[in-house]
Amino acid sequence: MQLKNINIILGITGGIAAYKTPDLVRKLVAKGANVRVVMTDSAKEFVSPLALQAVSGNPVSDNLLDKDAEAAMGHIELARWADMLLVAPATANFMAKLTYGLADDLLSTLCLATPAPIYIAPAMNQQMWFADATQANLKILAQRKIQFLGPAQGEQACGDVGPGRMLEPQEIADLLVPESLEQLLAGKRITITAGPTREEIDPVRYLSNHSSGKMGYALATAAQELGATVTLISGPVNLQPPALIKTVSVINAQQMHDAVMQTTDTCDIFVGCAAVADYRVQQKTEQKIKKSDSELTLTFIKNPDILSDVAHLANAPFTLGFAAETQNLREYALDKLQRKKLNMIAANDVSDSTIGFNSEQNALNVFWSKGEKKLEVADKQLLARQLMQLVAQRYIEDTND
Ligand code: PMT
Repeated sequence: MQLKNINIILGITGGIAAYKTPDLVRKLVAKGANVRVVMTDSAKEFVSPLALQAVSGNPVSDNLLDKDAEAAMGHIELARWADMLLVAPATANFMAKLTYGLADDLLSTLCLATPAPIYIAPAMNQQMWFADATQANLKILAQRKIQFLGPAQGEQACGDVGPGRMLEPQEIADLLVPESLEQLLAGKRITITAGPTREEIDPVRYLSNHSSGKMGYALATAAQELGATVTLISGPVNLQPPALIKTVSVINAQQMHDAVMQTTDTCDIFVGCAAVADYRVQQKTEQKIKKSDSELTLTFIKNPDILSDVAHLANAPFTLGFAAETQNLREYALDKLQRKKLNMIAANDVSDSTIGFNSEQNALNVFWSKGEKKLEVADKQLLARQLMQLVAQRYIEDTND
């Protein structure tokens, strides 16, 4: 039981996703956690405190200035009791309050008073999620090491489609990792590549692919949570660099190769998640190619294979590669594992357009010389945590051999 004897305060704010919180409490309790629920006034419009008391087995707290509570478990005691504080759903308003350090109700006061890690599962309309103010608040909160779970993408209660749905209760429960598990990679240095590369053809055109960088960025955050010092080397993507992670931006495969090689002397683990172009044009033209002829022939030459070059170094780090395949997943992945001299490989079935490239979810089959493990379809954040824990376990076993 991943959360055995872990004390969790579940803060519920006023969003429609609050109706899922009794189920969330049950999932947390099933993992062994002790749960105390704190509700804002507007949360009580969406879900009954009585239901939450019944499923958690503890009285629900909602009042900062409660004579009885101060005599028993007042806000400071409650803040000290918690091993984790989870706010789900967290509205845009609550994120703004947290950003400014307001303490005008019990939940916001607890967020200031607790030394425990804070997890936020946002839930709001997609336009509100994209609003400049919310995005600015997100950035500040992430820099303060508040951990965001989601939001998920999809159809919303208001009829809009986009990011802003609260993750499902099971996903949230699976994403909570007690501090004691978090330091498997303390003191280790990890280099991770993410996103696509862009191979320029002329000043206005390039060859690239659909990688969004989401998987690689999620892996960088997951490695940091396990205590590693991470260098993220990223192709051109539309993502904010993760807070407190050194992020190096590159455009093409040769630049990514050079940036990676600068880290290998001191790197313990290398993860090649980027979708690196195998070829580039032999000669990038200085001027825009004009459409004068009916046909255009370009000659492509091979790019360096970053993953293989790292794994073949005399003092190679522990190396995890990816294999994005549309067929013969197992066979091609095992071939890459051997041929590129990797310690592990995560095979990605990219024939399924709902996972992998540019989607919120992924599923992986991970192989190493003496074993394999299937990681079922899940949000990329969750999958990245599962994968990094597997990498950490394999790395620790290999270095102790
Ligand atoms: O970015 P997202 O939208 O979140 O999508 C994630 C992903 C689908 C891109 C990711 O999960 C994934 O599968 N990444 C590897 C994609 C890929 O290019 O696979 P490949 O089978 O072509 O390459 C095999 C391995 O060699 C990869 O680890 C790749 O990083 C590496 N490689 C490939 C070519 C090259 N010149 N240098 C390399 O290092």
